[in-house]
Amino acid sequence: MNDDTSKAGGDLRAVTLHNGVTMPTLAFGCAFGDWVGRTDFQGFLPEQAWRAVSLALDSGYRAFDGARVYGTERIVGTLLGQRFASGALTREDLFITTKLAHPAAPPHINISHKRTWDPDKVDDIAQRVRDDMVDTLDDLGLGYVDLLLMHWPGGFGQHTSPDPDFPRQARATIWRTFCELADKGAARAIGVSNFTVHHLRQLLEDIPEPERRPTVNQVEIHPYCRNPELEDFCRTQGIVVTAYAPFASGALGMLQDPTLTAIAERHGKTVGQIVLRWHVQSGRTALPKTSKAERMAENQAIDDFALSDDEMQAIDALGTGEARRTCPDPSFVA
Ligand SMILES: NC(=O)c1ccc[n+]([C@@H]2O[C@H](COP(=O)([O-])OP(=O)(O)OC[C@H]3O[C@@H](n4cnc5c(N)ncnc54)[C@H](OP(=O)(O)O)[C@@H]3O)[C@@H](O)[C@H]2O)c1
Repeated sequence: MNDDTSKAGGDLRAVTLHNGVTMPTLAFGCAFGDWVGRTDFQGFLPEQAWRAVSLALDSGYRAFDGARVYGTERIVGTLLGQRFASGALTREDLFITTKLAHPAAPPHINISHKRTWDPDKVDDIAQRVRDDMVDTLDDLGLGYVDLLLMHWPGGFGQHTSPDPDFPRQARATIWRTFCELADKGAARAIGVSNFTVHHLRQLLEDIPEPERRPTVNQVEIHPYCRNPELEDFCRTQGIVVTAYAPFASGALGMLQDPTLTAIAERHGKTVGQIVLRWHVQSGRTALPKTSKAERMAENQAIDDFALSDDEMQAIDALGTGEARRTCPDPSFVA
């Protein structure tokens, strides 16, 4: 067994964002349901969050990744409120992420139209963002979030505006509104999600103040879906990359991959632990989600071993070629 943890270096439990805010490396994913279609397709099932988030708090998770569209913020807020009331937790113990501005969802996902909107279908984009933020904070029962992300760079279909620059302008408007919310204290840090290099470059041109650049880009990354070019770009800009669907949502047969299984056996760890260790050793943060208490503990126990350079490269090699995704490809967003 290889127990040389020195290779990874640094603090693997937290990262410091460019605005000085400290963010835990692992946050518990709060999207529940089956949007990949492994079973009879059900879309989001927020009711599963009650038990899972409660167990996750018991298991020691203090960072939670949510979004307006998941429909779980009232549940998370209620469960946190119980712990605030008992004195078991204070607000400062937690790192809460939300995501706003999710466009009308692909037809196979059952998200309420009240939780999604296409920028070209609302009269006042900035006001819609402000209103959604009020609803999110009300549901969470919090005065601020630790991290606010723009959920998607734009609509999945063709936008109806005749102006080809509209999607870019809409992103800039949403981003300026996020800056305003951060300035008012509603979010300690702001970032983006599902942004490609193209979307990031445009945003950095449109809002050139370095201190206003995104702190985080949350994107789909797992051993079957890699994007080294995007990660390199984010690194040069000081933007932390967070891997969503770090286990490929349990789909694509990834957790049964023979390369991962062999590495797991060599270390006496589970495939889940190997995958999470690969994420953090690669310098990204990750959002593991599970409904099972034993896996919640397992997914946090990744500090007592390290992957060798050969093992890191072998896992990297699984993601060469076309990415196998569980969510839509954001490069199709204009
Ligand atoms: N920004 C975005 O657009 C976006 C999109 C998708 C997801 N996300 C975020 O990313 C989070 C995680 O993504 P995800 O929910 O799609 O899935 P995920 O975390 O990649 O995978 C969850 C699946 O893996 C299984 N699992 C968890 N730990 C395991 C372990 N140690 N060994 C074996 N299997 C394990 C779970 O099964 P059990 O429950 O049976 O353990 C579940 O089926 C979401 O909850 C959300 O917060 C963001």
